[in-house]
Amino acid sequence: MGMKAAAGVAFQEHAPPGAMGAPLFLVHGAGGTHDHWPEALRRLPGRRVIAVDLPGHGASPPPGERAVPVYARRLVDLLDALGIARAVVGGHSMGGAIALTLALEAPERVAGLLLVGTGARLRVVPGIVQAWADPARASELAISAAGFSFGAGASPELLRAFAEGMAAVAPGVVHGDFTACDAFDVMERLGAIRAPARIVVGAEDRLTPPKYAAFLRANLPGDGLLVVPGVGHMVTWEAPDAVTGEAALLLAGIS
Ligand code: COA
Repeated sequence: MGMKAAAGVAFQEHAPPGAMGAPLFLVHGAGGTHDHWPEALRRLPGRRVIAVDLPGHGASPPPGERAVPVYARRLVDLLDALGIARAVVGGHSMGGAIALTLALEAPERVAGLLLVGTGARLRVVPGIVQAWADPARASELAISAAGFSFGAGASPELLRAFAEGMAAVAPGVVHGDFTACDAFDVMERLGAIRAPARIVVGAEDRLTPPKYAAFLRANLPGDGLLVVPGVGHMVTWEAPDAVTGEAALLLAGIS
């Protein structure tokens, strides 16, 4: 599938003939691109699926943004440009922060939430944000990030692909992403969200631990909290079938 673009945002679109229901709109995390989502999810039968490259990432032109609400507004612009009134929004990591922000700031646009490896507050380890301000350190930091992003059983190839993908994003954009995560906190605001949520996390996730997912489950409408054994923060790559299956369950209840 090739990339398209609208409102300055590149995206991969899957539009099967006869697709029904609110489209699925997939938002990746810090330093990622659309390909952090399982391929089977990006090609889900019977649903229109749009997987974005956030501004400054992948095929989307720079600059990136430095705050979650600004990314969320850029995605509202994209929904407007595509004429999509309501979407089921899937978010991984920082993408989950963006999805929650969309549900708070543009509730009429959000039919449901698929929240994967994310949380209502995403403080980043001190030092990491600042380190990304030095472009010369990007490839070393991307390798280190890969080391923290997977469960113990993940293959070296998966870690290498993650590090290469992150190193391909401009360091200043990754710095903006971590700045955005570090300031994100909607822990006190989840009660205002009406969209049903399904939640997935890797049991070995060290960046957004299962505790964060449990907090989301306790404070959001809907049902479903899947803790996938043996995998880490990149549950989208480590357990793609589990993530795709949860998405299908969420979508089955949303027209
Ligand atoms: N959901 C539920 N609870 C949360 C939460 C969330 N999203 N975010 C924080 N908390 C909890 C913490 O577990 C902690 O609880 P405790 O006091 O019972 O231990 C409390 O809120 C305060 O935590 P936090 O705001 O994170 O501050 P901190 O000074 O304790 O820790 C870090 C700061 C950066 C060390 C820590 O947040 C961390 O390890 N983060 C994960 C690593 C990372 O960089 N992730 C990247 C995300 S993109």
